[in-house]
Amino acid sequence: MITNEFWLDRWLNGRIGFHQEGVNAWLVEYWPSLPKGSHVLVPLCGKSNDMIWLAEQGYQVTGIELSPLAVVQFLGDNDLPYETQQVGDLKIHTVIGLPLRIVEGDYFLFDEKDFDACYDRAAMIAIPEEIRADYVAHTKARLSPNATLLLVSTRHGGGEEGPPFSVEDDSIVTMWGDAIQKVASEDLVQANPQYKERGYAFFEESVWHILPQQS
Ligand SMILES: C[S@@+](CC[C@H](N)C(=O)[O-])C[C@H]1O[C@@H](n2cnc3c(N)ncnc32)[C@H](O)[C@@H]1O
Repeated sequence: MITNEFWLDRWLNGRIGFHQEGVNAWLVEYWPSLPKGSHVLVPLCGKSNDMIWLAEQGYQVTGIELSPLAVVQFLGDNDLPYETQQVGDLKIHTVIGLPLRIVEGDYFLFDEKDFDACYDRAAMIAIPEEIRADYVAHTKARLSPNATLLLVSTRHGGGEEGPPFSVEDDSIVTMWGDAIQKVASEDLVQANPQYKERGYAFFEESVWHILPQQS
């Protein structure tokens, strides 16, 4: 079972192979243009540089991350000055000079609402199947009714079970609803021999979005 302790240990032991040094290429290609100042939610954010990219586009970015080590590394690696406020069981670190907050704590305790958009890369697929629908419901409850979503998911076979877990396309539609659309995918086994060496027959990374309805 994947518990909070599992993730805290991963950070303590530096087992963070999911972290990307640059900005995610899918994000740059598929993030839709939203009004400046739109509030963007980044659940299970790790120390992703994608948050800096989003903040630099002029969005108000809120990342939520369990591991204090990830938070310290994110703020330290990027030389970001910040102020911290304790709100219940969560610590809110507000960056000075960039429209960016990192909320330290368990995502399921985070109850702010009305976000205009959500960026989920390696978050939903980090959640075990037993509570994945709860994760999606909790995320939807954080978003305004017409919110945008960009989701990077994985579907794989033959290798380790996960995380990242393999999530079927129909399960994504069942959890997120009919408005979600798959816009791109790539089998990483073809592009990267390491996946084959790890036993995967296929490892599809896919990009999904929900775009705001035009009125
Ligand atoms: C696979 S990593 C992805 C991180 C980030 N999205 C990225 O693209 O690098 C999943 C992250 O979720 C965090 N996490 C796991 N469970 C969490 C929870 N309940 N609340 C907040 N963060 C959580 C882990 O510590 C880890 O940093």
